Amino acid sequence: MHIVILSGAGISAESGISTFRDSNGLWENHRIEDVASPQGFTRNPQLVLDFYNLRRAQLNEVEPNDAHVALGDLEKLCRVSIITQNVDDLHERGGSTNVLHIHGELRKARSLKTKKVYDCLGDLNVGDFCPDGGQLRPHIVWFGESLPLLSKAEATVSTATEFWIIGTSMQVYPAAGLINSTPFGCKIYYIDPHSAAVKCSDVTTLAEKASVAVRGLVDEKIANI
Ligand code: OAD
Repeated sequence: MHIVILSGAGISAESGISTFRDSNGLWENHRIEDVASPQGFTRNPQLVLDFYNLRRAQLNEVEPNDAHVALGDLEKLCRVSIITQNVDDLHERGGSTNVLHIHGELRKARSLKTKKVYDCLGDLNVGDFCPDGGQLRPHIVWFGESLPLLSKAEATVSTATEFWIIGTSMQVYPAAGLINSTPFGCKIYYIDPHSAAVKCSDVTTLAEKASVAVRGLVDEKIANI
């Protein structure tokens, strides 16, 4: 059995991290083109760095919730691969060890010059250079940029026996398109309280919060294996 997870901001909502498109979500209060595009970074780098500095600092204030922890528990039972659109580290802190961050990671930064990636625990500012002389930028995939881990994610999904989509509006491609890489016969679940985004007869929809529905599914697996 190989359970592949595609998670989005909704799985971290109960930990206190805002989603993007719910009411009062991040994209209601910030313009994507200002804070999440290469052009925005060129125009006003410090604004962009501050946006991610705040979000990185928030990681010190939040904890994984029961959905993250349940997925960590699931790993003790069978092969689990997590593909997350989230840039937080709550899956890892919830006990998952096989996590692919397809949209990047807040706790990493990279050189504008060589693209070399570094750990980043504190604030980033204009004038913070790495040893190669390049300005450091957040290790986040911005709109208009390609996803370096996409083919690895597609290959992972193509070997899934079950595909669990958790807490994502499925509006952002290519991440949302990963559902098309599931192999024939793969069981697909979609866990989201506003689960209208996936309307497909062979998808089992659980319109509940992640902490409840993921824990329920994991308990079901534990009982049946
Ligand atoms: P969205 O904000 O688009 O969607 C969040 C989803 O989480 C919605 O469908 C909510 O209904 C659901 N949700 C809210 N609370 C939940 C809960 N307690 N349990 C389960 N689900 C819940 O966030 P994403 O789909 O993750 O990209 O957004 C995808 C990408 O768009 C992000 O990775 C980000 C953003 O622009 C980049 O920044 C590159």
